Amino acid sequence: MCGIISYIGPRDATEIVVSGLKKLEYRGYDSFGFVVKNNSDFKIAKKVGRVSEATADGLGLPKSNIAVGHTRWATHGGVTEANAHPHVSNNGKIVVVHNGIIENFQDQKKFLELQGFKFYSQTDTEIIPNTIEYHMRKYDFVEACKRSLKHLDGQYALVIIHKDENKIIAIRKEAPLVIGVGEGEFFVASDVPAFLDYTKKVIFLNEMDMAVIDTAITIFNAKKDTYVERNITNIDWDAEQAKKGNFEHFFMKEVSEQASTLEGVANIDNGLIREVADEIRNAEGIFFVACGTASYACMHGVYIFAKIAKMHINFCLAHEFPNFNHFLTPKSLVIALSQSGETADTLIAMRAAKAAGAKVISITNAMGSTAMRESDKTILTRAGPEICVLSTKAYTSQLAILTLLAYELAGKLEEGKEKLKDVVRYIYYLTSENTRKFIQEIAKNLRYTPHMYLIGRGLQYPTALEATLKIKEVSYIHAEGFAGGELKHGVIALIEHGTPCIVFTSTETETEIISNAMELKARGGYIIGVGPNNNPAFDVWIKVRESEEANSICQIIPMQILAYQLAILRGCDPDKPRNLAKSVTVK
Ligand code: AGP
Repeated sequence: MCGIISYIGPRDATEIVVSGLKKLEYRGYDSFGFVVKNNSDFKIAKKVGRVSEATADGLGLPKSNIAVGHTRWATHGGVTEANAHPHVSNNGKIVVVHNGIIENFQDQKKFLELQGFKFYSQTDTEIIPNTIEYHMRKYDFVEACKRSLKHLDGQYALVIIHKDENKIIAIRKEAPLVIGVGEGEFFVASDVPAFLDYTKKVIFLNEMDMAVIDTAITIFNAKKDTYVERNITNIDWDAEQAKKGNFEHFFMKEVSEQASTLEGVANIDNGLIREVADEIRNAEGIFFVACGTASYACMHGVYIFAKIAKMHINFCLAHEFPNFNHFLTPKSLVIALSQSGETADTLIAMRAAKAAGAKVISITNAMGSTAMRESDKTILTRAGPEICVLSTKAYTSQLAILTLLAYELAGKLEEGKEKLKDVVRYIYYLTSENTRKFIQEIAKNLRYTPHMYLIGRGLQYPTALEATLKIKEVSYIHAEGFAGGELKHGVIALIEHGTPCIVFTSTETETEIISNAMELKARGGYIIGVGPNNNPAFDVWIKVRESEEANSICQIIPMQILAYQLAILRGCDPDKPRNLAKSVTVK
């Protein structure tokens, strides 16, 4: 939930980490801080607020060859300057930034206090530099870091530097950390976009890897207790993809990329789809697991597999999986969806599946992510970097891949691909300037509403849920999504005069969902219809042509745009909503 960037090499490390951290702000933006190593002295600057406005000069940071930056999403301790990272050991010689949670930090803190250490923040992180200082009473810096790991329970991505050492130590355990490899220079970051301007050569650290980086890199694995080699991967993203281009926000840039990202899915390698489909055919007991938006993609998968492949797939929210994973056997298959590939709850569900001997397949957008590396097989959504905290293009790519898998299982992959290619052409229209202007007018009528309800049936039910999440997580309007059939079982009590209700329709569900719309209207609801046909029940109609199972892809796009417009009208940050972070790497 935090962003880390560090650099060691001949260039201006300070400038590199200040600009690099701004590219990671989507990972957490309560507060930020930097440490710059200036010969054998440190200069530290920490602030509450967002790093986007910060400059090296403004922070009084000198040029250097070693620098570290951190942007925080608070877990332990409030949003204060004292709790911002980096954190320093009592002797002032060791500085650490951390992403994750140290679960045993209270016990370790008590132990260190008995050794005479003092603490100045409420964070769990502050025990790390002091634990290393404690071990440096007997060992050198590298050995002390190794030994300190034995005292840390929980999840952590760490970057550690020492005042008297020209090196960076990077350690990962259940939290992302990647190394960018340049010419005589190294970058360590939570995510690739932070250094994509400088190199596309990346080393993905494995669990319990500890990289010691100076003019070269050596990697020690604390689990295997030995030095290891890690391959260099060439990332197929370019730096421009991780920038806004002509858009004011990543949100709308990424919404607008969906025609091309879906075209990429439509041209996906048949072999991989067929391989994964075979795993599904051969499995006994299949679970989709995911969180948030990815979980609504899973729900679509359940409907699409039932409809097209005539297969029953279970779905479970990843954090609820412990209630069901006793059903897993070595013949089971767990399919995990995760844009980031780093969501802690989803990784935990995957590991439970592996522990039960089940096969695990991931559908992720992040090459080299933990989910990818811990899966038996991975389908990459290849939607390019998704920087906005809200998932949009990765979501529709997930839907498209699940649709192709269902068509392959029905022996009709080429038909599925043709359908997807046909939808791609329509999506250029749905993401056009005209559509955006039309939706903006609708948003103006909803700007001040305190509540909003969204309903759908069949495949439009998970669409209603995903649209609901988009609206509430970026405009902060209270919105709730329901299956149309649920209205009469209590929900309709919520409807008052003028309550906005968005109703998703399709040819297949039209009769029943329109009667739901009439029930809402009869009680004063302000009805916004989304679908192929207008209807007297609608006060507003957003036309989205009938696309059968691809309705899931087409109908969410005007909702993404509506959420964006509402955020703008309500003065919210469309890319970095309050309290959120792009990748929930803590459970
Ligand atoms: C989506 O708009 C949200 N930001 C959030 O629900 C997200 O989908 C969820 O945290 C899962 O993330 P993942 O796909 O990276 O696992």
